[in-house]
Amino acid sequence: MTLLKILVVDGDEQIRLMLNQAIKNWGFTPIEASTVSESVELFNLHQPIVTLVETSLHDGVGLDVLREIKKRQPNNIVIMIPEVLRVNETLTALRAGACDFIAKPINLEELHKAISNAIKARKLQPEDQQLQQVPINSFNFENIIGTSPAIKETISLARKVAASDVSCVLLQGESGTGKDLVAKAIHYSSPRASKPFVAINCAAIPANLLESELFGYEKGAFTDAKARKEGLFEQTDGGTLFLDEIGELDMGLQAKLLRVLEEGTFRRVGGLLDLPLNARVIAASNRNLKTESQEKRFRQDLFYRLSIIQIELPPLRLRGEDVILLAEYYIERLDKKWHQTPARKLAPEVAEAFRRYRWEGNVRELRNVIERALILEENELITMKYLPEEFQIKGNSKYLKRGLSEASLYFTLPPEGISLDMVEEWLIQQALHRSGGNVTRASEFLRVSRDRIRYRLRKNKL
Ligand SMILES: Nc1ncnc2c1ncn2[C@@H]1O[C@H](COP(=O)(O)OP(=O)(O)OP(=O)(O)O)[C@@H](O)[C@H]1O
Ligand SMILES: [Mg+2]
Repeated sequence: MTLLKILVVDGDEQIRLMLNQAIKNWGFTPIEASTVSESVELFNLHQPIVTLVETSLHDGVGLDVLREIKKRQPNNIVIMIPEVLRVNETLTALRAGACDFIAKPINLEELHKAISNAIKARKLQPEDQQLQQVPINSFNFENIIGTSPAIKETISLARKVAASDVSCVLLQGESGTGKDLVAKAIHYSSPRASKPFVAINCAAIPANLLESELFGYEKGAFTDAKARKEGLFEQTDGGTLFLDEIGELDMGLQAKLLRVLEEGTFRRVGGLLDLPLNARVIAASNRNLKTESQEKRFRQDLFYRLSIIQIELPPLRLRGEDVILLAEYYIERLDKKWHQTPARKLAPEVAEAFRRYRWEGNVRELRNVIERALILEENELITMKYLPEEFQIKGNSKYLKRGLSEASLYFTLPPEGISLDMVEEWLIQQALHRSGGNVTRASEFLRVSRDRIRYRLRKNKL
């Protein structure tokens, strides 16, 4: 839930109720008032960023509310919701500082647009500190769930990237690990936040269309080019261009993209003018572009250019207890939304199965598994009963007999190899994290002696 509040001032309870619900759906916190005096009191108390005001109230008119608010906070966004739009009243309200008018019956979509536009316009004014700090949507780093060392490291790198003005970034990670999420978090936490975030999926559009989509074209560049068209590089104007699934980009376009990134300029198709690139480019791929480039499926020079700043999204199976955190997070959200009940709990054997499972589809797969279980499960507890078949424990291999879970079978060697020392250190960190720093319990998790862990800690000065 965001910190941003919207005050609704209307004498009609039905209308308040409807707006209340809509405001929540849009991610703001609603506050309700039905009279002039009440609205002034609540305004002082809550400092909403937007106020919606009906024009005729029991103890006065909406104009009084508008004036009182503007006296206290000239910057506040006040949107009038009159019964009928009358020219005189409208002019008076405009002079008193009203920002917009949405006549009844209220079209919620129109109202939402009016609110977002007003907030966006205000964000552009540098004096507005409060708004600068609170993004108007939920795409910020706080919404990326996880406390494992692996995800924390990723987020800390992404935060640095957001604050800096590096012109291009590569996001790598398996499907469903959160590349979209991180791309948006970078944009909306960066100085570019008030400018557009433009995303395009390179796999979804044929190469010939993609080129004019990205670069735009001049009139007459080809038969169908009846007028000049701006491409995405231009439309992104000061914002972030997200090139998703860049691994699928056609070789010819890869060369053109490289030139844009190297020279910081581009040309519309059929154009002669070099236009400046004024966008940060975030590229993402779930293929390993290094391997792809070694195997000549991706241009090596473009890979090197993109990978100057590379952010790796770790697979969910290497994020330790984050699996449980994320599961609880989705249960909480969905139980509240669908059943209006407190969040149900995971049965211990489910938590164990979740820790053990391989999660090829990562966070997306986890969310789907949870959604399904929440719909089907009639119990207070989420049990194994409605988990997909892959979760049911099979056989009792010698590993299980030796007290090891099947997770130990699930490490696969990445194509570029891995440092065993690093893996060991990482596992020790995770075990310590899970045991709350208790070395004895951590050594039990890893089935090694306490001395081995202590030795490691000393060696790495942890
Ligand atoms: N750490 C996280 N916390 C909360 N939600 C997450 C997290 N990581 C991913 N998600 C959610 O999981 C889903 C999949 O994430 P996302 O679409 O960003 O993955 P992706 O890496 O872009 O996948 P793909 O390669 O398939 O495009 C989304 O609904 C996203 O909001
Ligand atoms: Mg994606």
